[in-house]
Amino acid sequence: MRRAGRLLEGTAAGRTAAVMVGRMKARLVVLVSGAGTNLQALIDACADQSYGADVAAVGADRPGIEGLARAERAGIPTFVTRVADYPTRAAWDRGLAEAVAAFGPDLVVSAGFMKLVGPVFLDRFEGRFINTHPALLPAFGGMHGVRDALEYGVKLTGCTVFMVDAGTDTGPVIAQAAVPVRDDDDVGTLHERVKVTERALLVDTVGAMVRGGWSVQGRRVKVGR
Ligand code: GRF
Repeated sequence: MRRAGRLLEGTAAGRTAAVMVGRMKARLVVLVSGAGTNLQALIDACADQSYGADVAAVGADRPGIEGLARAERAGIPTFVTRVADYPTRAAWDRGLAEAVAAFGPDLVVSAGFMKLVGPVFLDRFEGRFINTHPALLPAFGGMHGVRDALEYGVKLTGCTVFMVDAGTDTGPVIAQAAVPVRDDDDVGTLHERVKVTERALLVDTVGAMVRGGWSVQGRRVKVGR
């Protein structure tokens, strides 16, 4: 089975992106900065041939993290692209884009990657760069989504998988799942419970995208045909 490739058309004001993965198994490049439990969930899912994807490489912005160790244990190529190794942030952005592109990804997954990428990266992977966030966007974006939701006193929070755009956690929403807040939660217990749901949502969403394709029209993302 050969599927169609990628289509990007439209104007800046009303851009449409439709993506079908053009091979039997999609190639994922996953970016991490820490523990990598979301990465592990993807690695485990990819072990099932019917999932429809392989993790082609794992990239990080820092060495010595458990996320990279998980990839190495699974025999997956890794790379580290540190901001400190580049003269400017723009040069780092280009370097990261090149490092990711070298693995020919159909989909790039930011899974706990704690850096904002720049315009070169965003342009190169437009419509196929996704992120996961531990809150129900547009509420509680940014670095402290779990803490901010808890401090606000919401009774329901959750997680969001979204297309990355130039803002911080502002891109089109692909999928969300809710998690109740308990009276005795602290940031640690709530984040751990959110992450259980987040891992399942990420695995389900990436699987549905690579098997069924996806399209983005304005802020509306449709997964599957
Ligand atoms: C996740 O909750 C992610 O949304 C947030 O940081 C956490 C990363 O967890 N940005 P892990 O590294 O995948 O375990």
